[in-house]
Amino acid sequence: MKAVITTKYGPPEVLEIREVEKPVPKDNEILIKIYATTVTAGDVEMRSLKLPFLYALVLRMGFGFTKPRNEIPGTELAGEIEAVGNDVKRFKEGDQVFGAAGMSFGTNAEYLCLPESPGEMEGGVAIMPANMSYEEAATVPFGGRDALHFLRLGNIQDGQKILINGAGGSIGTFAIQLAKLSGAEVTAIDSTPKLDMLRSLGADHVVDYTKEDFTESGEVYDVIFDVIGKASFSRSKKVIKENGTYLLANPVSQMFSALWTRMTSSYNIVMQTASGTIADLIYLRELIEDGKLRTVIDRTFPLEQIVEAHKYVGKGGKLGNVVITVDHNKNT
Ligand SMILES: NC(=O)c1ccc[n+]([C@@H]2O[C@H](COP(=O)([O-])OP(=O)(O)OC[C@H]3O[C@@H](n4cnc5c(N)ncnc54)[C@H](OP(=O)(O)O)[C@@H]3O)[C@@H](O)[C@H]2O)c1
Repeated sequence: MKAVITTKYGPPEVLEIREVEKPVPKDNEILIKIYATTVTAGDVEMRSLKLPFLYALVLRMGFGFTKPRNEIPGTELAGEIEAVGNDVKRFKEGDQVFGAAGMSFGTNAEYLCLPESPGEMEGGVAIMPANMSYEEAATVPFGGRDALHFLRLGNIQDGQKILINGAGGSIGTFAIQLAKLSGAEVTAIDSTPKLDMLRSLGADHVVDYTKEDFTESGEVYDVIFDVIGKASFSRSKKVIKENGTYLLANPVSQMFSALWTRMTSSYNIVMQTASGTIADLIYLRELIEDGKLRTVIDRTFPLEQIVEAHKYVGKGGKLGNVVITVDHNKNT
């Protein structure tokens, strides 16, 4: 089968399309014929390791020192089940599914075997929304579940004010919609070309981070969800209500000031690695099928253009998600 192989950490050109052996499902696994997958900001970070030294070191220790131990990148997918192992109960051949490979990666390929019932950090698969294409469904498992994970921790109540910083990307576009469904008044921050999209997803107020500093607005919020982690933490504190919650999806950027504030103040500061369950996928599917949640796709690239896709995501400015399509009839 065709797969993207990461030859080492580095620029997009370290990614190569190669022929590798097609996997065979074990008794507890399903074999998925992948039709769509994604390139996220996290995939670009994992490939380049252009990150603070200590964080990059931790990632090398966890995922492989000179190159990723699991050579095929990609975390989310949508496709069709081609075969099931002897013990699999929930799925059958021909089921259309969406899901995530979690920390074992491997979705930027024609096929992937995944366990029917994964461990906590391993992703999971469910029947995909009936009203979505493969391309759309592939964008939900990461951004949708991470947004859900953090917003649940924010315990948003009807009428509360939430500010989402970095609202126009994979996580933020879902976070706006989920926060609105909780009854919140949503302020969404991102760059100029994304403001109309943020409004169309339901944001009550938008802020252009290239022109305005939200910490100087005079507004105060019950919850700040800082997806991107680029806001100065000490200044952001000014706009959170006392006992308010600060959700930090990018813990590296502000770890020390956030830890210090957690020890010395009444703010509820949440920094963690998101995890998602199959139940979360099913919950998101129901919202999508009810017409309450949608995805935003900026561009799609064929698998063969994985280098261009990584370059595109790496330069910033994408609206929502970037999708990779897998054409099983194409020769490399
Ligand atoms: N904690 C966890 O478990 C976990 C899991 C996955 C990912 N993450 C982290 O979450 C972060 C974001 O994820 P994502 O996939 O949603 O990223 P994304 O798709 O790249 O979205 C980030 C958004 O932030 C915007 N942005 C950039 N600089 C900004 C600034 N100074 N102020 C406000 N907005 C700004 C970007 O807009 P422009 O590109 O137009 O500037 C983009 O729309 C990544 O750093 C990733 O490492 C955490």
